[in-house]
Amino acid sequence: MTYVKYSPEVEVKQPHEDEQIEQIVSLMHAANVKAFDRHRHAVRDAHAKQHGTVVGTLEIPELPEHLAQGLFAKPGSYPVVIRFSSAPGDIKDDSIPSPHGMAVKVIGVPGKKLLPDQQDELTQDFLMVSMPIIPFGTVEQYLKVQGIVAMQDEAPEEGQRALAAVARGSSKVLGLLGIHNPLLESIGVENEHVLGQTFHTMAAIRYGDYIAKLSAAPLSPEVKVLEGQVVDTAGKPSAHRDAVVDFFKEHGAEYQLRAQLCTDLQKMPVEDGSVLWEEELSPHQPIARLVIPPQDAYSPARRVFSDDQLSFNPWHALPEHQPLGSIMRVRVKAYETSSAFRHQMNVQPRTEPRDIGEVPA
Ligand code: HEM
Repeated sequence: MTYVKYSPEVEVKQPHEDEQIEQIVSLMHAANVKAFDRHRHAVRDAHAKQHGTVVGTLEIPELPEHLAQGLFAKPGSYPVVIRFSSAPGDIKDDSIPSPHGMAVKVIGVPGKKLLPDQQDELTQDFLMVSMPIIPFGTVEQYLKVQGIVAMQDEAPEEGQRALAAVARGSSKVLGLLGIHNPLLESIGVENEHVLGQTFHTMAAIRYGDYIAKLSAAPLSPEVKVLEGQVVDTAGKPSAHRDAVVDFFKEHGAEYQLRAQLCTDLQKMPVEDGSVLWEEELSPHQPIARLVIPPQDAYSPARRVFSDDQLSFNPWHALPEHQPLGSIMRVRVKAYETSSAFRHQMNVQPRTEPRDIGEVPA
């Protein structure tokens, strides 16, 4: 198999990109200020509701040349902290299905980092969602749907639940009619157990000499058995958090981290995150394991540390893992704005952990 080599030219700046980024960030910030006012506490502008935060290790084996890139160049073991979440930028009842997030922060990674104010930090973050693509894959598309997302967010909860149910049944039908509505697709997900899901970077990152999308899939039997399991959320507003906490009281979990390397820039584009990279074009190849022991995933100290002090950001990265494409470029300012506001309003220090011991038990 021949893999496309990374070079800066694989990224192509989009027309009106800078203005569109400004508009997206200011619309998101306005929504975030509203959420702050509702809660009198600042929450993330996306993935506000956590379902548990766990510590573990990233185990990197000896890999063949094409996979031994960037952080994965040499075998080794790094501590990680992982935050599970639901996608909306507000705290919603779990009976409203939404994609879930798995944010992984690898600690103790040497080398200069991408963001100017993060150069000497020791962290490499990988942010993943339980969908293989981002339905609005360019800043232009993202801006178009943002208004609809905001409207949906403001609707009463019963309305949101109904819309999600309709979306599950109807997005395929609408697709047959040629109506492609990314909003319906993204909210039309089943309410699956978070720990049985496969999580994806959705858009591309640099993978050393190559380009890849990464994903994490259940590996150990305890989490594999949860694949596709729908969680009963009736009358349980935090059913997902409860399920995660109950699981880690007794069990550990292992996930396979995989890289899908780009083999064709036309069929596997970098500049449009809404295009699925077909497995026939390039398989998901194992690169490491995430190993998580049993623990208390939601102690008060850990909840506060994870929600109010930590910031996960795909740009907390080595240059070898630079996020790629316009949908990744908008994230530079979007994450900074959300995190700065959150820390400022909650009067919390903005620190990047340098040692796993900083994560409270
Ligand atoms: C392209 C694929 C994307 C993935 C896989 C992704 C994934 C995630 C995840 C997992 C989190 C939660 C992090 C945590 O637990 O702290 C998050 C947070 C966030 N995302 Fe994304 N996201 C994507 C795209 C975007 C885009 C396009 C935007 C904005 C235009 C965005 C804005 C945000 C913001 C503002 C936060 C909260 C940051 C903070 O306050 O610390 N994301 N994202």
